[in-house]
Amino acid sequence: MVIMTTTSSLTFLPVLERIAEEMERTPGRGRAADYIPALAACDPRRFGMAVAELDGTVYGVGEWREPFSAQSITKVFTLALDLAREGDELWEHVGREPSGNPFNSLVQLEYENGIPRNPFINAGALVVTDRLQTRTGDAAGELLAFLRSESGNASLDFDKEVAASETAHGDRNAALAHFMASYGNIDNDIPVLLDQYFRQCSIAASCADLALATGFLARHGIRADGSRLLTRSQAKQVNAVMLTCGTYDAAGDFAYRVGLPGKSGVGGGIIAVVPGRCTLCVWSPGLDERGNSVAGVAALDRFTTLTGLSVF
Ligand code: DON
Repeated sequence: MVIMTTTSSLTFLPVLERIAEEMERTPGRGRAADYIPALAACDPRRFGMAVAELDGTVYGVGEWREPFSAQSITKVFTLALDLAREGDELWEHVGREPSGNPFNSLVQLEYENGIPRNPFINAGALVVTDRLQTRTGDAAGELLAFLRSESGNASLDFDKEVAASETAHGDRNAALAHFMASYGNIDNDIPVLLDQYFRQCSIAASCADLALATGFLARHGIRADGSRLLTRSQAKQVNAVMLTCGTYDAAGDFAYRVGLPGKSGVGGGIIAVVPGRCTLCVWSPGLDERGNSVAGVAALDRFTTLTGLSVF
């Protein structure tokens, strides 16, 4: 089923309809994340996809209005919010190279002196949230306010059940945080940081919300209200890090297939940016072994193939 919010510039709607039909005919489609019990119950075959135009027009197919767990997609927004505040100093605390390792891996941290490879693996995201927490006193609250404002959806919120589920199964993130603290790369008390990080990941939002919230990256740093969050150059930098690191050890394959900056989360969502043109968000909870939505990557692959839009 297709629902539209406005009648202007629905350029890509026929493409989305075609993709949704193709996805319906695709068997399999991966497994929902089970390391967070609250996510495991999701039907892996659910599907929604939305496009947001630069002017805030948003439309979609399938369950594009259905909230899901944003998870690691939020790492893009905390990165942008922190970068806007502290600028290049951030890069002394977190790198910007692909890790080639799973998102929750510990192995590189020891021989790279507690400096995570990039802001999108868990270790790097913890550093970013820690720095945002130091600057704002409420990193997750700052993030939520930003998402509400960019999406125009004041009802966006944390999902307490998901946050509690992650806290109860958070040993690996706690290990990452403690290990980086031993190198002096974490400022806040670890329980405070983990609470902020788990609430950040738990935010429930729809494809429409997240496509709209990503708009500033297609508008070269300009927020929905016309104010500037990032310089043009910083927006380029965030897009570049998404392209090279946004889908973890599958970033090369994602660039090869989709050819857009993108960021996935284990809730099954993926956001993608066509700089200067539009943003996308797709959701389908069935994941591949590297934690990326199977139908989500396939749908974005079809989108760039059918439209010819990519950064390449
Ligand atoms: O840190 C975690 O385990 C999750 N809250 C976020 C993981 C995530 O979404 C990684 N993604 N693909």
